[in-house]
Amino acid sequence: MTETAAISNASMIAGDTVLVQFNLNGKDVTVEVQAFSSLAEVLRERLQLTGTKIGCGSAECGACTVHLDGVAVPACVTLAATIDGRSITTIEGLSPDGEPTALQRAFLEGGAFQCGFCTAGMMMSAAALLQRNSCPSDQDIKMALQGNICRCTGYVQIIEAVRKACR
Ligand code: FES
Ligand code: FES
Repeated sequence: MTETAAISNASMIAGDTVLVQFNLNGKDVTVEVQAFSSLAEVLRERLQLTGTKIGCGSAECGACTVHLDGVAVPACVTLAATIDGRSITTIEGLSPDGEPTALQRAFLEGGAFQCGFCTAGMMMSAAALLQRNSCPSDQDIKMALQGNICRCTGYVQIIEAVRKACR
């Protein structure tokens, strides 16, 4: 579906404002958004889910990665108006029961972050990989994380953490 078609499926309520209904971290939500607001902006500024970071704003760094119907996508270039009827998972919803997942424990125990700015996006890309491939190779992990940039930790500990999480 094109973005224009997706927007027209959502409810236009006034001028460039759109009402979207979607599942967010397991709960149905309805939110009024500007037609051209990014999903990342809506998550952070309207829904106070600030775990999703905005770095480049142009699908280059991966800091804003969330799951859209289970697929890792950059929320900074996803129009919020196009997610009507879809399912979004953010880093806040990665562990529905509040207990750290194996992936989160592996990042923590393996020192797979320093400043942490990239970490939510890294985990969301890695979690999407582990959901479709419970035992990925190092090459699979590198491919899954190729859109996620880390400026301070380096990638060795991050790849090791994903590898450990699948054991
Ligand atoms: S902020 Fe979305 S990819 Fe960089
Ligand atoms: S931990 Fe700082 S950018 Fe990755």
